[in-house]
Amino acid sequence: MKVAVIGGGPGGLYAAALLKRLDPGREITIWERNAPDETFGFGVVLSDETLGGIEHADPVIHAALRAEFVRWDDIDIVHRGRTLTSGGHCFAALGRRRLLRLLHERCRQLGVELRFRTPAPPAAALATAYDLVIAADGAGSPTRQAHADAFAPRITTHRCRYIWLAADTAFEAFRFEIAETEHGVMQLHGYPFSAHESTVIVEMREEVWQAAGFDALDEQSSVERCAKIFTDALGGRPLRANNPQWTNFRTVVNEHWSHGNVVLLGDAAHTAHFSIGSGTKLAVEDALALAACLEEQPGLCRALAAYEAERRPVVESTQRAAAASLRWFEELATRTGRRPHQFAFDLLTRSRRVTHDNLRLRDPGFTAAVQREFGCPPGTPPMFTPYRLRGLTLRNRIVVSPMDMYSATGGVPGDFHLVHLGARALGGAGLVMTEMVCVSPEGRITPGCTGLYDDEQVAAWRRITDFVHRQSPGTAIGVQLGHSGRKGSTKLMWEGIDEPLPDGNWPVVAASSIPYRTGVNQTPHALDQVGMAGIREQFAAAVRRAARSGFDLLELHCAHGYLLSGFLSPLTNRRTDAYGGSLANRLRFPLEVFDAVREVWPDDRPMSVRISATDWADGGTTADDAVQIARAFAAHGADAIDVSTGQVVPDEHPEYGRSYQTPYADRIRNELGVPVIAVGAISSWDDVNSLILAGRADLCALGRPHLYDPHWTLHAAAEQGYSGPGAPWPSPYRAGSRKPPAGRTDAPKPRLSLMTRSTR
Ligand SMILES: Cc1cc2nc3c(=O)[nH]c(=O)nc-3n(C[C@H](O)[C@H](O)[C@H](O)COP(=O)(O)OP(=O)(O)OC[C@H]3O[C@@H](n4cnc5c(N)ncnc54)[C@H](O)[C@@H]3O)c2cc1C
Ligand SMILES: Cc1cc2nc3c(=O)[nH]c(=O)nc-3n(C[C@H](O)[C@H](O)[C@H](O)COP(=O)(O)O)c2cc1C
Repeated sequence: MKVAVIGGGPGGLYAAALLKRLDPGREITIWERNAPDETFGFGVVLSDETLGGIEHADPVIHAALRAEFVRWDDIDIVHRGRTLTSGGHCFAALGRRRLLRLLHERCRQLGVELRFRTPAPPAAALATAYDLVIAADGAGSPTRQAHADAFAPRITTHRCRYIWLAADTAFEAFRFEIAETEHGVMQLHGYPFSAHESTVIVEMREEVWQAAGFDALDEQSSVERCAKIFTDALGGRPLRANNPQWTNFRTVVNEHWSHGNVVLLGDAAHTAHFSIGSGTKLAVEDALALAACLEEQPGLCRALAAYEAERRPVVESTQRAAAASLRWFEELATRTGRRPHQFAFDLLTRSRRVTHDNLRLRDPGFTAAVQREFGCPPGTPPMFTPYRLRGLTLRNRIVVSPMDMYSATGGVPGDFHLVHLGARALGGAGLVMTEMVCVSPEGRITPGCTGLYDDEQVAAWRRITDFVHRQSPGTAIGVQLGHSGRKGSTKLMWEGIDEPLPDGNWPVVAASSIPYRTGVNQTPHALDQVGMAGIREQFAAAVRRAARSGFDLLELHCAHGYLLSGFLSPLTNRRTDAYGGSLANRLRFPLEVFDAVREVWPDDRPMSVRISATDWADGGTTADDAVQIARAFAAHGADAIDVSTGQVVPDEHPEYGRSYQTPYADRIRNELGVPVIAVGAISSWDDVNSLILAGRADLCALGRPHLYDPHWTLHAAAEQGYSGPGAPWPSPYRAGSRKPPAGRTDAPKPRLSLMTRSTR
């Protein structure tokens, strides 16, 4: 087999070495346009996990790397004159130049042909002369560009500028330092890569970079300026450059990773922001997977498909973590005002891969200090601290998210709702929300939706709130009020979500006459002033009934494309009157409804507003709009914003993932200082503790986890060994308040001392 490798970076070199080692009969040539020692950057960090993979695949490279590594455990966070240290992280790094030299040596030893200072021939030409072409030609990959039709790359350029430098001093830890300058916030990411050298990456928002005049400085002056800004970190030493350039990080994603016998590897296939230090790791792991798949699969085509299938999910998960980390640094200016420990904790957990529980295990002292500063009573996890909204104190931070059960008749909640909501109230959540309760029969989504438009419904809801208050004292119950708008008159969820009824449809109304799905859903009637006034009054009447029903909190549903949400989104509101056009106009009707509702809802009871913080669609609501929307509702008296996303238009492209909506909540909370409820794919108590302690959310709403386990909160308490007032077990259940023991084994205990003796 003849293999051509384009690019002699870590990915290309390691792939070549492995392929040659596995089959010395392979003829392998690497083209590298630069000289052997001519490369960008300084140090790279590799994890223990990657090293383990390398050890199994090629012990020689592993031994060489091990001998070179500098290792350390701590992360120092330097901010506003204080250094906070978190330990137990286990890092290993070495110089990029040194890494490449070791790989060059190994390739030579194994008989790989290295052609330095030689740009590779085009991949198309190599593809005819070689059996396999590995395009490991970096983030700017000429191969990917030349075959953009086949690989379908998507490249996103981000908002910060960075420069990769070095200092002749070894930091004792990973160092994040924040400089709040007159031009804006700048950050240093630093780590040692030899006994006397450190990588220093200086990064800042584009506008800060320009305000600071970096755009007008030559390279040397830029480097000197950075050294001056971070002089304390550097102990007054200068910074060194190696082909430095201020660059905007670019995230690379490819629809396809191979085309015929040409395969992308490393940065050519995908990039992940350097703040999670994973680029080299991913390139090396790609090489491991590619080599393994070529061994395991019959034929090249199957091997390349298996390689992509194996690596894509890992890469996507890393890219999600890297995106969260990148965004964190982009929005750093909104976070610098936090208290010191919370700031440090927020920084450490920014990618969502490191959590409260990880940090507690790595450095219990650090986590305890963060909890003390937060105000957690001793032995109380953050999620079990109380939270006050207006006159209502919630005993913990868990909310049962509103979930439509589509199980009512005539809008009246029945026994199902009593048992469903009652069970979740007994299950320990601080706040149990009803489903979207509709303000009129026509405002229902389906015939199975509940309402608050007549007195029979008031009595039925009262039965439920009375149960909750009596049987689960301390649990609050809130009602979510809404009107379905253009998404109304549809089937029950399990019979066909958002599909019109087979018969008995009722006319639907909306901001504009645009159906949810053309040719499928009804075309709504665009509301006129009289229609809007009528609906405003229906909301107010429903709120009076909600107060009589005994609810503790009221949420106005302005999300998910229902009536009020439909006014907010530019995709669904095309009105030309005072209720359409600018965001201020689009907010007008939802705010009028909010005001009407707030006026009749008892003064001491809080109100939240659920919004879709992005439509996940071009031309729709953006995160910036969401901040303005939240600001407007808060100014009108909303006590909290419940931050969901999407479901406004059918052709949306959500970026699902762990806690994927939380960054929107986080931004609103920290830009506006407004309490937020985060929701969406938050499923572990560890995630909840992390979000609350980092100050990304005040409350966490969990939907589907509560369908899985009504006692989610009590079980979270039991698993954390917590038995305080934040999660009291109902008296009749107390006997079961510990996790049932797993099956026990009666086999004799293995005795280490005996085992050692017998092997002597
Ligand atoms: C500021 C910064 C800091 C980073 N820090 C870390 C870190 O701490 N840890 C980490 O793991 N990763 C880090 N990375 C990422 C890391 O550098 C890359 O992910 C890694 O180098 C990818 O390896 P690669 O082999 O895919 O590509 P590269 O290392 O980019 O190698 C590609 C090679 O291809 C060559 N080439 C391109 N076109 C041609 C051609 N036509 N002919 C011949 N040769 C060609 C280039 O000269 C280059 O040598 C960082 C990146 C940046 C920008
Ligand atoms: C069966 C079901 C019904 C839902 N009904 C509502 C609703 O009535 N109102 C609402 O705002 N969100 C509704 N949602 C969305 C949830 O409140 C929540 O935002 C979503 O499920 C994401 O959270 P999770 O990942 O914890 O489930 C519903 C979700 C589910 C699964």
